[in-house]
Amino acid sequence: MATFYLSPSKSLTIPLQTDLSSSTPKPLVGFRCNLSLPSKTPAVTAEPPPVYSTVKTFAPATVANLGPGFDFLGCAVDGLGDFVSLSVDSLVHPGEISISDISGNNVGKLSKNPLWNCAGIAAIEVMKMLGIRNVGLSLSLEKGLPLGSGLGSSAASAAAAAVAVNEIFGNKLGIEELVLAGLKSEEKVSGYHADNVAPAIMGGFVLIRSYQPLDLIQLKFPNDKQLFFVLVTPEFEAPTKKMRAALPAEIGMPHHVWNCSQAGALVASVLQGDLMGLGKALSSDKIVEPRRAPLIPGMEGVKKAAMEAGAFGCTISGAGPTAVAVTDNEDRGKEIGELMVQAFAKEGKLKAYATVKQLDRVGARLVSSAR
Ligand code: HSE
Repeated sequence: MATFYLSPSKSLTIPLQTDLSSSTPKPLVGFRCNLSLPSKTPAVTAEPPPVYSTVKTFAPATVANLGPGFDFLGCAVDGLGDFVSLSVDSLVHPGEISISDISGNNVGKLSKNPLWNCAGIAAIEVMKMLGIRNVGLSLSLEKGLPLGSGLGSSAASAAAAAVAVNEIFGNKLGIEELVLAGLKSEEKVSGYHADNVAPAIMGGFVLIRSYQPLDLIQLKFPNDKQLFFVLVTPEFEAPTKKMRAALPAEIGMPHHVWNCSQAGALVASVLQGDLMGLGKALSSDKIVEPRRAPLIPGMEGVKKAAMEAGAFGCTISGAGPTAVAVTDNEDRGKEIGELMVQAFAKEGKLKAYATVKQLDRVGARLVSSAR
């Protein structure tokens, strides 16, 4: 059973919808925050009828691992992510889903076969959980995230699709089921890890305390603290499967003790809103980053440039190749990003681009719907 540590005021109070086409979030109309979903769903007994004919959802980019939290810590970042539009379609065989369209950057590699597409796999899982047999669906995926970038691209598609199917059938499932549906998809495409898909669905910082049974803890970062993520993505692909294969099968006790203490410090820093402590812990991984950084040209120099420019911390975002640094000031974040881009060019001979984003505290959400 999932465990959620939310302050009572957090769960239902987000009154805005964000226009994700611009980098500056704009308040639009109301939407439902997924944190209002029950953490445990009463068993769905009868096939629910669709309550909408069409819905559109969004799920944000995520930074997994956060340094020492390999496979168990992640957070969502705002203004970047994927959209899913889902419609009831009488031309699709009842109980099935078809992918009608995939748009966005560099999406030629993505399959329209729902069994081989992150959004399709998660959508099918949710249909199974709901016992959908009498309605066919068609799904269109708008990729805002580049593939294999370390920003949780596959998880964003899966999260947006899982939430879309749940919404079209009246929001019967809870967070735990939606994360499990997303995990099915992650398992097939990159590995069994929820540190992208859980924050993509729930927003904010999430700790995966256990996989079997799934036990998720939302870490509340104080509302009055400003945290900026500098995300620098080079033109280089780092497939998660390959980056996972580079990791050691076993580790020694000193590294275990070090990384556990740093992950504990990271959790404490998040809860206290201690940005310097968060950055220090983010930079401290002695197990995963040392194996992966050499596989990303220039990464070691990029981290050095970020720290010299005053970042509180820097590491690889997820499996890479994006580098993530943290700071408390947007303008400073832009300067740090510029120096990191230069370091990728100089040390790695890679073109890179930088964006500065804040924490997404909402997670996957309904953007629009029609009956
Ligand atoms: N924890 C996963 C990994 C995240 O580092 O392989 C992948 O985005």
